[in-house]
Parts: sequence; C-alpha cells; structure tokens
Amino acid sequence: MKLEVRNVTKVYESNSKERTVQALNGVSFSVEEGSILGIVGESGCGKSTLSRIVAGLEEPTSGEVLISGLPRKGIAKFIRKSSKRPIQLVFQDPYSSLNPRQTVYHAIEEVVKIYDHELDAADTQTRIFELLSSVGIGKDLSHRYPHQFSGGQRQRICIARSLAAKPEILVLDEPVSALDVSVSADIINLLLDLQREFNLTYIFVSHDLGIVKHVSDSIIVMLAGEIVEFGSWTQVMDSPKHEYTKRLIAAIPSLENLKIKETGA
Ligand SMILES: Nc1ncnc2c1ncn2[C@@H]1O[C@H](COP(=O)(O)OP(=O)(O)OP(=O)(O)O)[C@@H](O)[C@H]1O
Ligand SMILES: [Mg+2]
Repeated sequence: MKLEVRNVTKVYESNSKERTVQALNGVSFSVEEGSILGIVGESGCGKSTLSRIVAGLEEPTSGEVLISGLPRKGIAKFIRKSSKRPIQLVFQDPYSSLNPRQTVYHAIEEVVKIYDHELDAADTQTRIFELLSSVGIGKDLSHRYPHQFSGGQRQRICIARSLAAKPEILVLDEPVSALDVSVSADIINLLLDLQREFNLTYIFVSHDLGIVKHVSDSIIVMLAGEIVEFGSWTQVMDSPKHEYTKRLIAAIPSLENLKIKETGA
C-alpha cells in the first residue's frame, strides 16, 4: 500500500482569529510499501500535525493524502467493509494513550472486536494473546492495568493495540522519546522485527537524527512546516542540501551505547 502526501498545508487559527499558525506549508512526499521513512525536525516544525493528518485524525487545510492512489476520504468506505484500518498512529506518550481503568486484555479486546468481529469468544482470546505475545507481553500479565507496567511495556501494549487493527502503515510519532535509552533500543528493535514480520510500512517521526539513521530507508528533514531535505539516508548524509541538515548531521550523538540492530542485517 503506497502512501502519497500531496501539497498538504495546515493552518491553525486561534479563537480570536487574530493569530494563525501555519503548521504545514506545501508538504509533499511518498512512501513505498514495506519501507521505513524517517521524519526529523526540531520541536514545533509540524511533525505531529503531519502524523495526525496522515493517520486521518485531522484534515489538512489544503492538499491531500492518497492511499494506493485513492484519496484517503474515499477509502473510508472501503475500510469499513474490509475490517481493517490501513493506517494506525502510535503516540509518543504510552502513559496517556491507555485507559487507566481498563485491563490490558480489555484494551486489546476492544480493538479486536471491531476488526475481527466474526471471531467467537475462544478465538478472540487466542487473537488477544497472540497480539500481546508478538510484542513480548505474556498472557499471564493481560489482566493487569496500565499502571502496573513500565513505560516500555506500556509502549509495547500500545503497539499491540495498533496491530489489532491490521494496519499496513504505522505512523510512529516519537515512539521512544518518553523512554530511557536502553528501553528505547528494545522498542526500536521490536518495531524493526514487526516491520519485517508483517511487511509494514513505517513513518518514523523523531527529533533525533541518530535514531532515524538507524531505522530509516529514506528520510525527510522538516523545518518550520516545510520539507527541506528528502532522500535515501546515504544521499542525505553524503550530500545534504540544506544548512539545517548539515547542522543536524554534525550534532548526531555517538550511538555506541544505544544497542540498535543494524538495518538490513
Ligand atoms: N491543535 C493545534 N492548535 C493550534 N496550534 C497547533 C495545534 N497543534 C499544533 N499547533 C502548532 O503547530 C505547530 C507545529 O506543531 P507540532 O506539534 O506539529 O510540532 P512537532 O514537530 O510535533 O513538535 P514537537 O517536536 O514538540 O512534538 C506549532 O507551532 C504548534 O504550536
Ligand atoms: Mg510532536
């Protein structure tokens, strides 16, 4: 499933309409099926706005998002029939994205009941345990509540919940920036394993070029709502066009202590 973003603009207006924020300005790019696109840029450059628009949680002011060549709006009907959701968003904060009063089992069940509604009770349970196991959470923990898990485990649960909708594209908006370095590496390795296992397409958003370097096939550098650089990792590293990209590359911290698997290994 190819994803294409065409000339997307987003303007936020304050209540008084006196102040407007141009969060995105003419953003265009595409992502090939089964590949990982990294998006980097400093705080406020529009990464989360773009993530929400791509995932369909927000509409652009102008421009469009195409999935397999079809406008995302038009595909809504198709999605309802096909019992899966092609794009899912995984948020930065695994603490606030789970309902504190819901066990992990029920958090996953809620989604499984929408996208696998034909399953009987026993098969539903099997599916829930399967999803949890794919992210490394044992079924013996499924009766627990979110606060009984660590941040990393919670992010695993959020990932399982996203996978329950059988997406082909995952938008990961700073999925590890709320986590410790060693936990981050575990989650990134898990995401890379899942990507290969299910042939998923990722849009991996981070303010950290060092992390994006390890995961992405191609990267986008954003600055103030615009794309200033787009290309394969080597293209961007070897011949960065924009001054801002050069500064980002120079500032990549040493990742020796971050044990992330090499991609393509
Ligand atoms: N719902 C909103 N209403 C008004 N302005 C918004 C809204 N969401 C984002 N903005 C503004 O749009 C711009 C882009 O914000 P966005 O959250 O997309 O940036 P970001 O790159 O994700 O930043 P961060 O790295 O801090 O997460 C910012 O100026 C922000 O204040
Ligand atoms: Mg953000």
